[in-house]
Amino acid sequence: MSSPPAEVATVGRGGFLRACRGLPVERTPVWFMRQAGRSLPEYRRLRGTESILESIRRPELAAELTLQPVRRYGVDAAILFSDIVVPLVASGSPIDIVPGRGPVLAEPVRTRAAVQKLRPFVPDEQAPYVAETVRGLTSQLDVPLIGFAGAPFTLASYLVEGGPSRSFEHVKALIHNDPTTWFELAELLADSVLASLRDQVAAGAAAVQLFDSWAGVLSRHDYERYALPASTRVLDGLGDLGVPRIHFGVGTGELLDLMAGAGAEVVGVDWRVPLDRARARVGTGVAVQGNLDPTVVLAGFPAAAAETRRILAEVAGGPGHVFNLGHGVLPETDPGVLAALVELVHAETAGGALAAPAPSAPGPGAL
Ligand code: CP3
Repeated sequence: MSSPPAEVATVGRGGFLRACRGLPVERTPVWFMRQAGRSLPEYRRLRGTESILESIRRPELAAELTLQPVRRYGVDAAILFSDIVVPLVASGSPIDIVPGRGPVLAEPVRTRAAVQKLRPFVPDEQAPYVAETVRGLTSQLDVPLIGFAGAPFTLASYLVEGGPSRSFEHVKALIHNDPTTWFELAELLADSVLASLRDQVAAGAAAVQLFDSWAGVLSRHDYERYALPASTRVLDGLGDLGVPRIHFGVGTGELLDLMAGAGAEVVGVDWRVPLDRARARVGTGVAVQGNLDPTVVLAGFPAAAAETRRILAEVAGGPGHVFNLGHGVLPETDPGVLAALVELVHAETAGGALAAPAPSAPGPGAL
């Protein structure tokens, strides 16, 4: 099934930024992590066989790939078409994005000498095309643009492992065997990530998301001691810009309070933790984003709609919810199901309890 990109420019387009700030909204805003990508036929046509890093270097193409899902799904926010490895590649790390696998390095960074060879990222010198894409988009978009970056731990895990990993043994070995080198690496990455996000906001991004996709592989103790300080440095360093900061990770149920405390207006929650529980963990004043299991979308609309209704019920009566998946859109996803879910979320929440100034009958998930 497919639905027309109707009413994209009509009601409720400011809802995303308001929801990030915990303010009442006309209807719950929706966007999808990895909404641009192989699940869209128009994406596959435009990208062709060129490397994704090449496509990102072409501002007109990158802008068009950012716009495609906004048109197709009627989502309430756009996310810049780029990748978390862009600052690493642009500052000199030889990384390939291998289709079906992810970022891969021929020579992983595992020693003090290798860390000391890394360069800081200087956006306007090394990757001016990113800001150019953002500037081009601001005049074409009628929804806010989300800029993003990988969090220092997640970026470091690619650098140190040399590619996607199941056990993260090399990065954990570095953390525990040579914490001095680890902190040097984490700080360098924090500065690069901060520079990248500030550049995107200066060019027109209205919100930012820090993707700590692999933070959930750490114990709470190790996260707090070894990963959180660098992420806090990034989020704190954006404070003066006044844009909402979304802090996202996968498998981070036991870290949600720490992630909120790092200086985020919104915490992204995967599908493992119910949103009412997540809210209790992030505390009053922090919004939540999520948390439909992306795999359930593959089960078809009836199943995904039932799960969507359950999630909406879990946050009933409380403001500060941005509907999203619990992780990125899977390539096999039927775009028609996602479009129908956007309509469903909008319809189910239109003018409802979320618009009330104060919830008179708090649901189970009320703040
Ligand atoms: O639509 C959007 O969300 C915006 C664009 C975006 C991409 N990557 C484009 C992309 C975003 C936000 C990312 C973030 C990203 N990249 C993350 C964090 C989010 C997450 O999923 O946890 C991570 C870990 C990466 C690293 C990365 N890049 C991986 C694991 C892959 C997949 C490789 C594959 O083929 O399975 C990529 C490539 C990539 N980045 C694709 C897209 C649309 C798919 C490949 C392509 O189209 O060529």
